[in-house]
Amino acid sequence: MTPEHPTTTGPHDLALDPPPGCPAHGRGPGGLHRLYGPGAEDLDDLYEQLREQHGPVAPVLLHDDVPMWVVLGHAENMHLVRTPSQFSRDSRIWTPLLDGAVKPDHPLMPHIAWQPICSHAEGDEHKRLRGAVTAAMATIDDRSVRRYIYRSTQRLVNRFCERGRAELVGQFAEHLPMAVMCHVIGMPEEYDDRMVQAARDALKGTETAIASHTYVMEALSRLTARRRADPQDDFTSHLIRDPAGLTDDEVREHLRLVLFAAYEATVNLLSNALRMVLTDPRFLAQLNGGQMTVPEAVEQSLWDEPPFSTVFAYFAKQDTELGGQRIRRGDGLLFAPAPGNVDPRIRPDLSANMQGNRAHLAFGGGPHECPGQDIGRAIADVGVDALLTRLPDVQLACAEEDLRWTTSIASRHLVELPVRFEPKPQQDVMVRPTHGALPPPRPVIPVSLDFTPASTAAPVAPPLATRLPPPGEPRPAATVPRPAPEPAPAPEPTPAWEPARRPNAWRRFLAWWRGY
Ligand code: HEM
Repeated sequence: MTPEHPTTTGPHDLALDPPPGCPAHGRGPGGLHRLYGPGAEDLDDLYEQLREQHGPVAPVLLHDDVPMWVVLGHAENMHLVRTPSQFSRDSRIWTPLLDGAVKPDHPLMPHIAWQPICSHAEGDEHKRLRGAVTAAMATIDDRSVRRYIYRSTQRLVNRFCERGRAELVGQFAEHLPMAVMCHVIGMPEEYDDRMVQAARDALKGTETAIASHTYVMEALSRLTARRRADPQDDFTSHLIRDPAGLTDDEVREHLRLVLFAAYEATVNLLSNALRMVLTDPRFLAQLNGGQMTVPEAVEQSLWDEPPFSTVFAYFAKQDTELGGQRIRRGDGLLFAPAPGNVDPRIRPDLSANMQGNRAHLAFGGGPHECPGQDIGRAIADVGVDALLTRLPDVQLACAEEDLRWTTSIASRHLVELPVRFEPKPQQDVMVRPTHGALPPPRPVIPVSLDFTPASTAAPVAPPLATRLPPPGEPRPAATVPRPAPEPAPAPEPTPAWEPARRPNAWRRFLAWWRGY
């Protein structure tokens, strides 16, 4: 950090703390804002104060009053992640770590401690590790994953559909990504409530976090050993067999990275997208008016509530300048999608929707840009879509003001999303969506395509799932076909609303695009 930054003091040096109610509350040595503790309950609000006071890059204090920069501007965040010649993700060059200001028990140590994973690697080593991860990801068949997401959604909805009530964070959003990721990496049999609890626990840093972390790591070690001995056609086997020659430890650490990164971020994305679809008048009106697809709602959520508010961290490799601030070699900088996405220079009107614009920071950028974004988006798109199709009358079961979030520097997590709906029967997870036995869905203006139901069936609107991808929406990322395709599913009964005739070209395209 620059010499202007205060020297580090301990967290319990109360003599330096102003009394509660004092305008300086929430500030630490040197009058710098703390990103933790009293005064930092509303981080979004704090980021706006910092932007006003310091511009697009602001000096702040982390726990133990460790100095840090938080990058608030959109362009400055982009510059940070896209300029590896100046900024690195390798924490071993961070001055407060080198000079002992960061203690081993620092609460952010799990993020700070350098690990031999692609997130922390640079240059050739980053290319080697990330290359293996992205090559293994390229073998994942998009359509079969989408089908799996759809079926997992049906399984989860079956658990609560007859009750007419559910809590969608705990009963849906926290489960779907774990079910999908366990399938993708090749341990579907390990997915259960305990695995979800363990991941949640390990990431929340509760008292049992270490035991939970061990539970997950043991499952990943068993998987690595099994696939090393007997490769299959899954992410783990491809990671092991990659020419990069990853060791067992490297394989296990990358499985952990993928499982946890995917789990934490996608739970937030699913919860936020569901909350938005259920409460935001812009989405309710637009979804019901047929102009807004679920993927567009998900994309808007990535702008307004990025699943990672900030990412710890980038480190300056040399003295430089960013956003008008003088950055010293060894300084740490928080990459910050949450304030970056609402930078008034790119979004003067926050209520304007961002349809068709994917320039948000939610997935990062540059060499470390999230390689799992297609899977993350697919889980949210298909999961939200299939849930709304299954429960078309779902609505929030509490006042919107009663929704609560837990906030940390890294993310903002919706605690609960209670909903109610008319009880529905269980559904065979292999069967495509059917509205035959369901109450009338919310009024939807059909898209101008041939979705005419069979003449004997009651006229129903198409499920939200059948909305078109917006014009210009790219096709899903190209995938490399698996050498041994998964066995064809059992023949599916024709749903009641399906026309008996062969689906037209558009329907076949939609089925291909949606993957189920
Ligand atoms: C919707 C959810 C997701 C969001 C918002 C998200 C966001 C991010 C962000 C912001 C980064 C860090 C970029 C940086 O260091 O500058 C990242 C890295 C990463 N993500 Fe994701 N992610 C999501 C889902 C996933 C999924 C589903 C996977 C795996 C299937 C995944 C795997 C990774 C990996 C391996 C990295 C490290 C890449 C590297 O350092 O080279 N993520 N993600």
